[in-house]
Amino acid sequence: MPALPSSVLVVGSGGREHALVRALLASPARSRVLCAPGNAGIEQDAPCFPVGAEDIAGLVALAQREKVQFVVVGPEVPLSLGLADQLRAAGIPTYGPGAAGARLEASKIYTKEILLKHRIPTAAAAFFDSVPAAIAYVRSRPAPIVVKADGLAAGKGVVVAASHAEAEAAVRDALEGGRFGASGRRILIEDCLIGEETSILVVVSGRDYVILPTSQDHKRIGDGDTGPNTGGMGAYSPAEVVTPELLARIDREIVGPSVRAIADEGIDFRGTLFIGLMLTPTGPSVIEYNTRFGDPETQVVLPRLETDVLALLWAAANGALRGTVLNVRNDYALCVVVAAQGYPDAYPKGAVLTFPPASSLPPATFFIHAGTVKNAAGQIVMNGGRVLGATALAPSLRQAADRAYAACDALQCAAKYYRRDIGARQLQRQ
Ligand code: AMP
Ligand code: GLY
Repeated sequence: MPALPSSVLVVGSGGREHALVRALLASPARSRVLCAPGNAGIEQDAPCFPVGAEDIAGLVALAQREKVQFVVVGPEVPLSLGLADQLRAAGIPTYGPGAAGARLEASKIYTKEILLKHRIPTAAAAFFDSVPAAIAYVRSRPAPIVVKADGLAAGKGVVVAASHAEAEAAVRDALEGGRFGASGRRILIEDCLIGEETSILVVVSGRDYVILPTSQDHKRIGDGDTGPNTGGMGAYSPAEVVTPELLARIDREIVGPSVRAIADEGIDFRGTLFIGLMLTPTGPSVIEYNTRFGDPETQVVLPRLETDVLALLWAAANGALRGTVLNVRNDYALCVVVAAQGYPDAYPKGAVLTFPPASSLPPATFFIHAGTVKNAAGQIVMNGGRVLGATALAPSLRQAADRAYAACDALQCAAKYYRRDIGARQLQRQ
């Protein structure tokens, strides 16, 4: 493997990218870490450049101008637009799949076809672009039933319909109402999987892979998993619902077959394969693939790695992952996402965030920024639905939760909203 790069560019502006920047800065290699476009929190840790995450030509030019030796791409949209392909073509090693790999996230129908072809466990499904056929199918299946837009929809293109009427409304919304734009011109209708959800993050390099520590997200906006789906309202790691025995089964039945299927399809995948799973009574079943780190999963997974994250991602990008064994801290990590009131629907921007002094925060507790920006007066203000995440490491999950919540409570902002029960399910089991 080539020597570790002396400079790294992280692409993106969310909490995931802030966590990546921090993890890369923690590398013993002491490489220069840059970010584009970043946010008000990333700016405090690394130089940020005002090039949008979807400005592919601008990012390639930035990487060349700054003589960046390595690029780590955070979000799915630039990956699906071929950013990694273009960077590699320019001779810059990149962590993140090319457009062919990113299609596993960008098209749910494509992924379902691969899952079915390679006999990887997943819910039965059918694909539609016309309302009458879709509704006839809905009526032929038991409720609850799931309606999904084929394309990217920022985690919001899925309706888990409790009744046939709700499913039919979702079908009409997508196919006639244009609710998801072009992403919803084709839809998937699939059986509802019942069980606990978990995500497995896998660092993939061709046919080689390393499974990252387990974590669990909380997708719904409200306490007790109520209300609409969001990008993710909080996470913790490890997810003990995934016992070592279950993880071995997931590796055998899902991860290994998925990595082989992707390679067999001719895709040279170098990046994160994020596998969304439902743990059903009959075994783990794939809900979806994402082709990037999870947000907020990354915020709890990376801080638990003792392994040098820069070396890990560099090895994957350079096809040198084989034989990598991760060292993981025993600590628990928990992240509570602070959102703007109103998210995931309309929400205000511009509310001022007043941070407690770092010295008043509990130990091993920090804010990871997402939708934040500096206003003209130099104040940090809300600039997105998910604003930041209070993240804590501690010897127990209870302590990690107490620490993260102490930070959320101490953050002053008139428009802040967060769930009160991140980690509760695992805490109740203990
Ligand atoms: P996706 O964008 O495919 O991850 O779906 C978003 C969320 O919808 C998932 O995290 C699940 O909570 C839920 N979901 C998706 N597909 C199914 C399914 N077949 N059965 C039950 N829930 C699902
Ligand atoms: N937390 C879910 C996601 O990143 O898609």
